[in-house]
Amino acid sequence: MIQPVILCGGAGTRLWPASRGERAKQFLPLAGPDSLFRQTLARTPAGQHFLPPVILCGAAHVALVREQLDGREARLLVEPVARNTAGAIALAAAGADAGDLLLVMPSDHLIADVPAFHAAIARASLLAQQGWLVTFGIAPDRPETGYGYIASGAPLDGEGFAVDRFVEKPPLDAAEQMLATGGFSWNAGIFLFRADAMRDALLTHCRPIFDAAVEALAAGMHDGDALYADEIAFARAPSDSIDYAVMEKHDRVAVVPVAMGWSDLGSWQAVHALAPDRDGKGNVADGDAFFHDSSGNLVRADGKRVSVVGMEDVAVIVDGDDILVLPLARAQDVREAAKARDRSP
Ligand code: GDD
Ligand code: MG
Repeated sequence: MIQPVILCGGAGTRLWPASRGERAKQFLPLAGPDSLFRQTLARTPAGQHFLPPVILCGAAHVALVREQLDGREARLLVEPVARNTAGAIALAAAGADAGDLLLVMPSDHLIADVPAFHAAIARASLLAQQGWLVTFGIAPDRPETGYGYIASGAPLDGEGFAVDRFVEKPPLDAAEQMLATGGFSWNAGIFLFRADAMRDALLTHCRPIFDAAVEALAAGMHDGDALYADEIAFARAPSDSIDYAVMEKHDRVAVVPVAMGWSDLGSWQAVHALAPDRDGKGNVADGDAFFHDSSGNLVRADGKRVSVVGMEDVAVIVDGDDILVLPLARAQDVREAAKARDRSP
């Protein structure tokens, strides 16, 4: 049986103003009627192959997580302060039994072909049982600088490949070079490993994070289905992502390639690219929008009536009293507006 572990602690500030504070993007219906978190839960239903999930989140998100679990069985591991994905994964690994197989999943991605995902998990389990930290590799189609890149090496039992090199978030020229060279895949941000293999890796490469996680669990507080990690102990962990802290450094990392219609809904541009076209001119709308002589735009109307005239490739995002207007090509810059406007989320 595989233990799903869902990472639910990100802020998603590039999708401001819809994503903010407690209502982070994973809890919003950004693609289809269900939130990204609910879609993530549905991919690994408890039963024959998967145990009920462990959810890692901050205290501010506990209420929303419980609401969106819709009565499903789950255990919550609550982080008193955010220490990025290495901190969260250290808590999960420290709290598991040595031989448990943990499947760590972000809560804010789309996977169109779930059977392909399950088939990849089955292949990855064989490698994870042997002590590999297994990543899932996506064929890249552009020099994206927001992802990790994986160079595959020797084949492993026909199930995947040993990772030669893991490069987290390369600069544009390096990303372009890797794309041109070939042999690289994107890291999907999903990991499968035995708890003891991850513990050994954390101890080797970032011991202060692991030690802080162990202490934070030991001094933690139980409340029903939730375990609140101890704040003083966990705050001692340096903040780092698992990609920098472990994956770039460890020598037993494997990659299982998978084509599963994967996408990371990281920005308004990505939301636009993945939503159905409303009028054959590339305009996408959620709510009451009117387009005249306009193409390639994205509108989220939030109960207002939005009209767009003579515009191309622009987003208009309404959320309560906040309205964001920007060219979709500048979607990565939204964080700045979010920081300036939403200082007290
Ligand atoms: N519980 C918890 N605590 N979850 C967290 C925390 C935290 O402190 N920080 C981030 N997360 C969650 C986010 O909500 C998201 O679901 C997931 O962990 C990954 O974090 P991101 O911050 O979104 O990472 P990234 O997108 O910059 O990069 C990762 O994902 C890429 C693919 O989307 C890396 O693994 C890259 O290598 C990868 O290509
Ligand atoms: Mg992400």
